[in-house]
Amino acid sequence: MSQAPKNLQTIESHILQMQKLHPSASGDFTGLLSDITFAAKIISREVNKAGLVDILGETGTENVQGEQVQKLDEYANNVFLKCLGTKGQVCAMGSEELADPIYVDTHEGTGRYIVVFDPLDGSSNIDANVSVGTIFAIYRRVSALDRVGEQDILQSGRELAAAGYVIYGSSTMFVYTTHSGGVHGFTLDPSIGEFLLSHENLKTPFEAKIYSVNEAYEPRWTPEVREVVRQLKYGRSSSSRQDAPTKGVDISSRYIGSLVADFHRNLLYGGVFLYPPTVSKPGGKLRLMCEAAPLAMVCANAGGYASDGTQDILDIKPETLHQRVPLYIGCRDTVLWIEKMLSSGGGGI
Ligand code: AHG
Ligand code: MN
Ligand code: MN
Repeated sequence: MSQAPKNLQTIESHILQMQKLHPSASGDFTGLLSDITFAAKIISREVNKAGLVDILGETGTENVQGEQVQKLDEYANNVFLKCLGTKGQVCAMGSEELADPIYVDTHEGTGRYIVVFDPLDGSSNIDANVSVGTIFAIYRRVSALDRVGEQDILQSGRELAAAGYVIYGSSTMFVYTTHSGGVHGFTLDPSIGEFLLSHENLKTPFEAKIYSVNEAYEPRWTPEVREVVRQLKYGRSSSSRQDAPTKGVDISSRYIGSLVADFHRNLLYGGVFLYPPTVSKPGGKLRLMCEAAPLAMVCANAGGYASDGTQDILDIKPETLHQRVPLYIGCRDTVLWIEKMLSSGGGGI
C-alpha cells in the first residue's frame, strides 16, 4: 500500500487559505487559479500518454514566432482557451501560440483578469520524452470592462497579480506565487487527481552551483557574454576583471532546452540560466510576457533575480505581446554579478 502523502493540503484549499488573507476577495482569483490547475491536469494527462496517441510530431504549421507548431502545443493552447475563456473571470488572454490577444465575452462575469501564457514550453523536446512545461502570468484589468484593450495586456512584471508554471516531468508539479509573496509547489497525485502541497515557501540559494546556457551559440555571443560564461566556469582565479561569485564553487553545466525544466532545477538546487542575445537574435529568443516576466516573479519571490543584462526583467514595460528579451535568471548574487559584468561592458549586440 502506498504511503499517504505527508501533506494532504490540496492546491484548492491552499488558494482558499490565501483568499482568506484578503477579506474583500470576490473568489474570482481563486476560481481562475483553479481553472488553470484544471487545464494543467488535462495537459498532464495528454503529455503523459503522448507516445501512445497521435499527438506527437508537428502540425505542419508555423506559429507567430515562426516556429513549427507541435500537435501538443496546439492541444495545450486549446485547453487553456477553453478552461479560461468561459467563466467570466478573464477579459483577455495572450498566448505564445496566437499572433493577437483574445478578448473574451464576460457577460456573466467581472472580467477582472488577463492571462498571458506559454501553453507548452520546450515543445522541441516532446518527441524525445524530455520534460516540458506551461508558464502563466495573471494581471488585473486596468481599464473599464467595456474598454479593455492593449493597455490591460501590455503591463510590466511589477503589475503581476500572480505567476507560475507547471512542469510535466517525472511528476507533474504546479508552482505559483502571488504579489503577496511566497512560492509554493504542488505535486499531482494522479491516483486522486489532486495537486498536493509538496514544496511550501520555496527559496532559492544565493549562489549558483549550476549554469545553464546553449554553449553552441558561443561564436555568436558578445565578448562580454563570453567572458561571463568563462568566469562562471573558471571562477575568480582566472580573471583580473571581476570577482566572479562562483569563486572556487564546483559549478556544473546543465542545459535541457526546456526553459521551465532548466529554471525549476536551478530554483531548487541553486543555478543560473542564461539566454543571451546573438547576432541572429539581438533581442534574445525568449518572450518577455509569457516566459521571462512570470518566471522572474517566481524567482524574485523565492529570493532570486532576473535581468535582461541591464535591468530587472520585472521593470520592463512591454511594447508588444511577443516581445523578446535576453534572459539571465536564478541565484540573486550570480545574476547581479552578470548584470554588472554586462552593463559595464555593454553586453548588447
Ligand atoms: P517554446 O517551446 O515555448 O518555444 O520554448 C522553447 C524555448 C525554451 O523552452 C528553451 O529554454 C529554449 O527555447 C531553448 O532554445 P535553444 O534551442 O535555442 O537553446
Ligand atoms: Mn517557451
Ligand atoms: Mn511554447
